[in-house]
Amino acid sequence: MSVSVLVGVQWGDEGKGKIIDVLTKSAGMVVRFQGGNNAGHTVEIDGQHFVLHLIPSGILRPGVPCVIANGVVVDPVELVKEMDMLKSRGIDVSGIQLSTRCHLIMPWHKLIDAFKEDSAKGDKKIGTTKRGIGPAYSSKADRTGIRGGEMRDLGRFEKHFRDNAEAYNREYVPMGGAPLDVEAAWKEVSAAREILLPHLADTVVTINEANANGVHVLLEGAQGAFLDIDHGTYPYVTSSNTTSGGACTGTGLPPRAITEVWGVLKAYSTRVGEGPFPTELFDEDGETLRKRGGEFGATTGRPRRCGWFDAVVARYAQRVNGIDFWAMTKLDVLDTFPVVKICTGYKRDDGFVYQTFPADLAVLKRCTPVYEELPGWQCETSHITDYSELPENAKKYVNRILDLVGGKLGVLSVGPARETTLRINV
Ligand code: GDP
Ligand code: IMO
Ligand code: MG
Repeated sequence: MSVSVLVGVQWGDEGKGKIIDVLTKSAGMVVRFQGGNNAGHTVEIDGQHFVLHLIPSGILRPGVPCVIANGVVVDPVELVKEMDMLKSRGIDVSGIQLSTRCHLIMPWHKLIDAFKEDSAKGDKKIGTTKRGIGPAYSSKADRTGIRGGEMRDLGRFEKHFRDNAEAYNREYVPMGGAPLDVEAAWKEVSAAREILLPHLADTVVTINEANANGVHVLLEGAQGAFLDIDHGTYPYVTSSNTTSGGACTGTGLPPRAITEVWGVLKAYSTRVGEGPFPTELFDEDGETLRKRGGEFGATTGRPRRCGWFDAVVARYAQRVNGIDFWAMTKLDVLDTFPVVKICTGYKRDDGFVYQTFPADLAVLKRCTPVYEELPGWQCETSHITDYSELPENAKKYVNRILDLVGGKLGVLSVGPARETTLRINV
C-alpha cells in the first residue's frame, strides 16, 4: 500500500502537472484533493501541449483512473468543458469520478469573486483568478454550499440553486454586483449536471479501497505552500490548504496512509497575483527569467512576477509538508546567467536576520533578502539525460539548495517535455 502526495512549495506554477505526469507512470490512480479551476497544470507530450484545470494531470496516461475528491471546489460547467476539450483530443474521460462531497462553484460565486476584486481598493485586492474559488469555499464554511451529490436529486438541487441565486441578487445587486440571470444560469448548470451524473461517486470509498487493494495512489496538489490559507502570505492566498495535510481532509485518507511526500520546487521563484514576494526582481534578470521560463499564467495568461530562489520559503515548506523528495524544475531557465543568487535569510531593518518565514506581513515589509551568489554555468542543460552530465556549477547550485533546505532530490527537470526529466534517488 502506498500513497504519494505531490505539492507545490512556492507560489504555484512550479511544474506540478509535468511531474505528476512523470510519476503517473508508476501510479494506479491519480486524485486532485483541493483547489479548483484556479489551477493550470501544463503537460507536454510529443509536442502536444495540455493545460489541466480540474482534472488530474494523470488523465494523459491511458488506463489510470482519475478522481476529483471531496476537497476540490468544482464548477460543473467548466468541468464539462474540460472533459470535452480532452475528448476532442482523443483522451478517454469516461472513468473520471467526481466526489458526492465536493462543493460546487455556482455562477454567483464567480460574480461575487469578480465584484470583490473589482471593487477592492489598493492593497485589498488579492489578484484572484476570478473563478469563484474563495466564495465557494466561503459557502462551504458558512454551511450554505451545494455539494456534488445534491445533483442526483433534480428537485432538491434546483430549489437550492434558485434559493441561493435569488439570495445573491437580493444581497449583491444593490451593492453594485452584476445581476445574475437565474434562468440562463440554471439552463447551463442543469445541462452540465446531466453529463456529470454518471461520474458522481463516493470517492472516499474509491480511494480508500484502491489503497487497501495495493493500488499506488498519487495525490495531486494545486497551488503552492505560500498560497495555503494557513501557511501562505495571508490574506494574499487561495482559500484551501495546499500543503500535504490538506491531502488527508481533501480525500478522506487517514494521515497514516500517506507514505511519501513530493515537493515541487522551481529553480527560481515566481508569483502571480498580489502579495509579498521577497526575492522579486524588477530588473533585466527578472525579465530574462520571465522570457526564458515562459512565465505567463496557464489559467489567466497574466505575466508572472519573477525572482531568485528563496531558501527561506523552501525551508518553511519543507517543515509544514514533510517533504521526502524534491522535484526541482526549470533549472534550464537559469542556463544563461553568469551569476545565480539564492536567498538564505531576510534581514530586518534593525539588523535581525530571519531564517524562517515571518507570519506578519508588516514585518516582512521591513525585511530585505540576504543573498548568496554562485557562478552560473552558461551552457545548455535541456538535452542532458543523466545527472552526472550536468555542468559542475549547475550541480553546485542544486547541491547548495539541498544543503539549505534539507531532504533528497528525486527528480530534476530541465525542460517542459516528458523526456527532459532526470530521476535521481528514486
Ligand atoms: P503547475 O501549475 O505547477 O503545474 O505549473 P504550470 O504548468 O502552471 O507552469 C509550469 C510551466 O513550466 C509550464 O509551461 C511547463 O510546461 C513548464 N515546465 C515544467 N517543467 C519545466 C522545466 O523543467 N523547464 C522548462 N523550461 N519548462 C518547464
Ligand atoms: P497552480 O495549481 C499560481 C493565486 C491567484 C491569487 C491567489 C488567490 O497552477 O499552481 P484564487 O483564484 O485561488 O482565489 O486566487 O492565488 N493562484 C495561483 N497562482 N498558480 C495557481 O495554481 C494558482 N491558483 C491560484 O493568482 O494570487
Ligand atoms: Mg499552474
